[in-house]
Amino acid sequence: MDFKKADWPRRLRSQEWYGGTSRDNIYHRGWLKNQGYPDDLFDGRPVIGILNTWSELTPCNGHLRELAEKVKAGVWEAGGFPLEVPVFSASENTFRPSAMMYRNLAALAVEEVMRGQPIDGAVLLVGCDKTTPSLMMGAASTDIPSIVVTGGPMLNGWFRGERVGSGTALWQMSEDIKAGRMSHADFLEAEQAMSRSSGTCNTMGTASTMASMAEALGMALSGNAAIPAVDSRRRVMAQLSGRRIVQMVKDDLKPSDILTRAAFENAIRCNGAIGGSTNAVIHLLALAGRVGIDLTLEDWDRLGRDIPTIVNLMPSGEYLMEEFFYAGGLPVVLKRLGEAGVLHRDALTVSGGPIWDEVKDARNWNEDVILPVEKALTASGGIAVLRGNLAPNGAVLKPSAASPHLMQHRGRAVVFETIDDYKARIDCDDLDIDETCVMVLKNCGPKGYPGMAEVGNMGLPPKVLKKGITDMIRISDARMSGTAYGTAVLHTAPEAAVGGPLAVVRDGDMIEIDVAARRIHLDIPEDELAARLAAWRPLSAPPDSGYASMFHAHVEGADTGADFDFLKGCRGREVGRDSH
Ligand code: FES
Repeated sequence: MDFKKADWPRRLRSQEWYGGTSRDNIYHRGWLKNQGYPDDLFDGRPVIGILNTWSELTPCNGHLRELAEKVKAGVWEAGGFPLEVPVFSASENTFRPSAMMYRNLAALAVEEVMRGQPIDGAVLLVGCDKTTPSLMMGAASTDIPSIVVTGGPMLNGWFRGERVGSGTALWQMSEDIKAGRMSHADFLEAEQAMSRSSGTCNTMGTASTMASMAEALGMALSGNAAIPAVDSRRRVMAQLSGRRIVQMVKDDLKPSDILTRAAFENAIRCNGAIGGSTNAVIHLLALAGRVGIDLTLEDWDRLGRDIPTIVNLMPSGEYLMEEFFYAGGLPVVLKRLGEAGVLHRDALTVSGGPIWDEVKDARNWNEDVILPVEKALTASGGIAVLRGNLAPNGAVLKPSAASPHLMQHRGRAVVFETIDDYKARIDCDDLDIDETCVMVLKNCGPKGYPGMAEVGNMGLPPKVLKKGITDMIRISDARMSGTAYGTAVLHTAPEAAVGGPLAVVRDGDMIEIDVAARRIHLDIPEDELAARLAAWRPLSAPPDSGYASMFHAHVEGADTGADFDFLKGCRGREVGRDSH
């Protein structure tokens, strides 16, 4: 930890707009005064942008307007000048073709908003899956002091005495219907129980995972991740974060001070302990790229390999985020990592001090929710990275969500060329498939879908489900919802749409996976594979206009985070000349 506080007072960047008597200064101040701000607010105090991903079309973030008021209260109390700014909000549950297609666009927009506006520090008000990584990426590329405040998870859903976990229950129930175990009327009734309150998914899905990653990275105050959206302590957290960002600006405590290699290593290990989403792999790789940390898939495999999953939450376990909060939340998990000697205790956080100081006194109030290590859900909770001739650049699998009996398997490929092909044929009685087969889905990667949709946990065929089988090996270049489960090999790279080996798998080919050996293999002769690859042609021409064409031209592979090639790195906070 080598953070050195900046001198205070000093002239902040917002003063380039507001601090002076020039015509341009008068112009900038004069306009803002149309909202009723008195003159002394322009005296050099920190201007804090509250970057709000509130949107009625992002229901997970639908309560962030209220939370912003608490952030503002904290900023005022600490002597800052808060200004709420709407930013691009990508909803996981509505955005088509995939919210992931817009993560980089949102990050680009946030970066430009932060740099182009008189903002000295930012509160990143986020929640739904893509909003958290996109705002952190944008902030990292400006290196303006920033603090994450997530909206918090929904309360537990309950249906007929059972917990209803966001997403997880939906996947289970839809399979129950296909298998004839549930009626559609019951499914519709269950819908009413799924989302009981404001907030994000209440499972350890991607939203909860990314909230946990922000906390483990040190970008949020300790305890932020698990507080339910409607708990009064969520509003307290927002207010405290508003106070804190003002001091961070005075100290010039920047994302680059916090987002060090040690911070990423802490986050990766934490992800193993919480049984976090595979989406964290892509988002942290991309975030690391913004601050020049050379994070790789191998780091994910190596650092998570011996981390037991101790958080007993769906989709890997039984409980939901509400219970995780009551049990003590993420500080308990980070403390356990510290006690095990696998936490960089001196990693700096937004608190201005080392992470260990924040978590060392945490207590576990429920050992059914945060398990003792001898009762861990899985001994190796990290993300397994598989390689072989089918995935030369890697593919990922989440062991805690997979079936132990499928960790080593050889099976016949049943191939779906696209997601539409899958949807058209999966329910057909004459589909030649059984539970020993390996389902292969192509053209769902970053360029292929486009946007790398969460379809990698494709549902099993009804004819298999009706036998009582609940899992099969599935391989794709897609992602999987963090709320989902199953033995799904994901993010296969290079993707099919750019001619990766996945593109040339055919029905009947034999595929082998061996998770312990980190191996995935298409069992055809080498020259046959080479001949197929040489004959491969893309399914369609790339889009030639609009954002889709920009996305296709610049998005990189899943193995490096699927960022845009031209957005990697930090471009800093300096801005050019005034607009007048
Ligand atoms: Fe938005 Fe899960 S869909 S948090």
